[in-house]
Amino acid sequence: MNNASNVLPLVLDNVWYRTLDGMPLIKEITTTLKAGGKAVIIGPNGAGKSLFLRLCHGLIEPSEGNIKWQLASGAAAHQAMVFQRPVMLRRTVRANVDYALHLQKIAPPTRSQIINDVLEKTGLSRLADTQARLLSFGEQQRLALARAWALKPQVLFMDEPTASLDPSAAYLIEQLIETITAQGTKIIMTTHDLGQARRMADEVLFLHRGRLLEHAPAEQFFSAPKNDLAQAFIKGELLWWRRGEGSDDAKRHDPKHAR
Ligand SMILES: Nc1ncnc2c1ncn2[C@@H]1O[C@H](COP(=O)(O)OP(=O)(O)OP(=O)(O)O)[C@@H](O)[C@H]1O
Ligand SMILES: [Mg+2]
Repeated sequence: MNNASNVLPLVLDNVWYRTLDGMPLIKEITTTLKAGGKAVIIGPNGAGKSLFLRLCHGLIEPSEGNIKWQLASGAAAHQAMVFQRPVMLRRTVRANVDYALHLQKIAPPTRSQIINDVLEKTGLSRLADTQARLLSFGEQQRLALARAWALKPQVLFMDEPTASLDPSAAYLIEQLIETITAQGTKIIMTTHDLGQARRMADEVLFLHRGRLLEHAPAEQFFSAPKNDLAQAFIKGELLWWRRGEGSDDAKRHDPKHAR
């Protein structure tokens, strides 16, 4: 993949996202996500991590500001997303991947090659003809990844890809993500698992109450975060009681954030 054909970098310029009644959920985010490696988004529950992914993937539109891919035309075809709770079609495992490829207008013979390949890589070959909805949660998560991987996206968004998986299932997903990255796909993922963020991140984005308080190379972030809330967060301190700090909207605080 040469640079000219890469949809990245993705540039966010003063991005805000508000509810219909005007409450800001994403505030003033300006940053750039470059090609290559794994960007891991961390932050407390309700920080806006999932919203951030949805904005970047184009599932929702910013209320203000811009989100621009370097190669804007056809950018949608170069990205895929794996959701925290994968949605499986009422079809077999194989047919679930096939449908995703069909939507990309890939010809049937090529489709079956790709399907065999991704099912093998994700360890799902023996379940190819099983109804997807009968799979265990961990298997469904792997199928969601297989389905996204089959599209050979330049950018793969993942929202908490290992939440509620046991350690060995999570490890398997982490290994798959490493393989996908090695093939040149940019990973942009969220996690609430700091151990996973330390293991996997090349760069870290720390979100707190809708603001991007820090975006730094992982090594720098974990050894010496510049932001004091990020420092507290990686030490495992609860942040909800410090919610007014580092933001200008303490007065607008919605009690449901106080978890
Ligand atoms: N459409 C909406 N209308 C109102 N509030 C919303 C809407 N979507 C999200 N929110 C609120 O915005 C905040 C950020 O939500 P988001 O799901 O992005 O958080 P998160 O960082 O992914 O949290 P978690 O770690 O729990 O997954 C939350 O307080 C959520 O309740
Ligand atoms: Mg979330």
